[in-house]
Parts: sequence; structure tokens; C-alpha cells
Amino acid sequence: MPPKLPPALPFLILLSFLFFYLYSTSLLPHSSPSSATTTTTTTTTTTTTKTRTTSCNFFKGNWILDRTKSAKPLYDESCPFHRNAWNCLRNHRENMGLINSWRWVPKDCELPKIDPERFLELMRNRNIGLVGDSLNENFLVSFLCILRVADGSAKKWKRKGAWRGAYFPKFNVTVSYHRAVLLAKYEWQPKQPTMNDGQKGIYRVDVDIPAEDWATITDYYDVLIFNTGHWWGYDKFPKETPLVFYRAGQPILPPLGLFDGFKVVLESMVSYIEREIPHKTLKFWRLQSPRHFYGGDWNQNGSCLLNEPLKEHELDLWFDPSNNGVNKEARKINHMIEETLQGTDIRLLDLTHLSEFRADAHPAIWLGKKDAVAIWGQDCMHWCLPGVPDTWVDIFSGLMHNSL
Ligand SMILES: *[C@@H]1O[C@H](CO)[C@@H](O)[C@H](O)[C@H]1NC(C)=O
Ligand SMILES: *[C@@H]1O[C@H](CO)[C@@H](O)[C@H](O)[C@H]1NC(C)=O
Repeated sequence: MPPKLPPALPFLILLSFLFFYLYSTSLLPHSSPSSATTTTTTTTTTTTTKTRTTSCNFFKGNWILDRTKSAKPLYDESCPFHRNAWNCLRNHRENMGLINSWRWVPKDCELPKIDPERFLELMRNRNIGLVGDSLNENFLVSFLCILRVADGSAKKWKRKGAWRGAYFPKFNVTVSYHRAVLLAKYEWQPKQPTMNDGQKGIYRVDVDIPAEDWATITDYYDVLIFNTGHWWGYDKFPKETPLVFYRAGQPILPPLGLFDGFKVVLESMVSYIEREIPHKTLKFWRLQSPRHFYGGDWNQNGSCLLNEPLKEHELDLWFDPSNNGVNKEARKINHMIEETLQGTDIRLLDLTHLSEFRADAHPAIWLGKKDAVAIWGQDCMHWCLPGVPDTWVDIFSGLMHNSL
């Protein structure tokens, strides 16, 4: 005969499950992204857990090869939110199974995989906006395809100046992307007599005016994720068609170079965000994910046909600005962003380090169009989906469960 349970035991078991449930849905204070181990700690001393939570850094760690089922992506090539050139399954990119078998493991904790249902429940009646360049769009697509798993009735959404996005009716949540590659307003001005010889025209950047695509919509969002970065280069704005910086409607004199201009724009956009966006809106700044062109830049036959992530000791060689490689600007730009954000309530989403490893995970030559590589070169900047951006989503989800 099985031993008879004391009458209170089933109740206690139920209670502890309930506790864990409440705990893991962040209804209790000091929630943690971590596993049940941390939960046990909480019940004894809350202070320990708090220290642990803040010391757990999702941004530092390593990629571990994990061929179990748990490494499987949550979506495939049929997700309706894909952008063709990043839909690597449909474009038959080699190695997609391997690319998605690497799992990011932070140094001092576990990074839980997003639970789309639980995340959308947390976000119920709230909206998330991404603002910036196509790397934020890459992030968005991964986000939408993952969230759609919990709400098949998701609809394309494009309003209020949004470039694209989706609405999730079951949870009344919108997630969308506003394209503003420099964040500040900029416009093309054709050749005028006052311009230098050899210039075909200029791009006028008003350092003190945010681009319309996002400036008027910030009230709509409860969470905003900004980025800008890879447009700040002489490949996008060579000396025949340079950026020229204006403040209060007048050209800044003497004229600023690209990186000095970047710094001024950054300071001015950050102060706009601090001044105009309500304090209760959660704000993140997503650092650059690096490019991985090998053997030349994008327009010089640069390539990224690598079969596995870089090793930790290779990262500086590729990315440290002092080595003057083709991909040096990401760290330089990040450094300027980190400096500018100090003392603000904008939180860093530092996706750089984990992405630096993943030279193996770009669309490369598998772009879904016959002549794309001949015209544009390989794509060693955006990321295959499913792929590395899914880990960005896991990290963002972990941070949100800690913040709301
Ligand atoms: C949906 O969310 C918005 C806020 O984003 C809120 O104003 C609105 O009342 C919500 N609608 C429903 C049906 O709950
Ligand atoms: C790129 O490769 C093509 C074909 O192999 C070659 O004709 C061209 O000169 C190369 N360009 C550069 C910048 O190396």
C-alpha cells in the first residue's frame, strides 16, 4: 500500500507551484530571468537574489553547440513577416541547421528562451516600437515571427509613420518599426553654385530635428528601442555626396566630419528623447551588431562564407579599431553611444559582443535573387532568420520580464 500523504501536503505542493508561477510571471518583486535555482535563493534572502540579478549580464558569454530539440527555432520560412533577402531557409542557405544549433550561454546565468505567450501576456495592452536602421528591422522580423507563434491571428500593421509592424489581437499588442537611419532629419539637396567642385549635391542633416518618421509617434509606445550606426560611413556618403550638418537652420562652421557629426546628432537625439518622451516609457538603445566582411568591404568582393562562429581570441583581430579591419566601425560607434547615454534613463541593449562571434550566420550569397550578389555583393551585415536575432529577442524578453 502506498504511504498515505498527510492531508496538508497536496495543498503545500500546489502552493509552491503557485508561488513559482507568480514568481516567474514577475508579479512578485525582484523577479529574476534565471531558473528555479535562483527562485530557491529568493525564498531565503531577497537581497542575495537582487545582487545576483543585477550581476547577471546577458551580454557576456559564449556560444555552445547544442544539437538537442531545445535549440530548434520557433518559426520557419512560412512566417508572413519575413523579408525575402533574410529568409535564409527559403533561399536555401547552407548550414541553417548548424547555424541554429548554437545557443548563447551568458557567463553567470541561463538565458531562458522566450515564451511568446507569456511575453505577450506581460505586454498586454502595450506597444513596442523599434526606431532606426535595417538592423532594427532585422530584429523586428525575428520578433514578429516569434510572437506570432502565440497569436496566429497576427495582422500586418503600418500606421503612424511606421515602416512595418504587426498587431496581435489576442493580446492587444503592437510591435512595429520606424525607419530613421540617422535618427535625425536629413534630405538630399541637389548641386548649387555654393557647393564645392566635385560635389553632386549634399545630404543636409538637421542635427536638432528628429526625423518625422518617429518624432511624432512616441506617445503611442510603452517601450522604444533605438539604434543607428551602419549608415555613418563614407561608403554611404562619399565626398561627392557628403553629409553636411546644420543646427538651428544654419550650416555648422567649420563643417563637421562624419564622426564629429555623428556625435553631435547622437547628443541632440538623446537629449530630445530625455526631454520629450515620458519617463514611464521604457527606453532601450540597441548597440551595433558588427559586419563580417572578409577579404574586402561589401563592394570589394568581401565575403562571409564561414562554417562556424569566430573564437573569442579572434574577435579583437576582426573588430578592434586599432587593427583597422573592414569592420572596425561598430566598436568605435558603440563607444560613442555608451559615452552619450551615461546618466540618462535609456538602457543599453548590448548585442554587439554576442553577435561579433557569428560570422557564420549572415545571408552571405543566399539572397533569393539571381543577380543580387553581382549587384550588391554578399550580405555580411544583416542576419539570417531564423538565426542570431532570435537570441536578441530572448535577451530583450528576459530584460522585460525583469523590468515590468
Ligand atoms: C488596447 O491597448 C490600448 C493601449 O495600447 C488601450 O488604449 C485600449 O483600450 C486597449 N483595447 C482594449 C480592447 O483593451
Ligand atoms: C571582384 O570579383 C570580380 C570577379 O571575380 C572581379 O572581376 C573584380 O575585379 C573583383 N573586384 C574587386 C574590387 O576586387
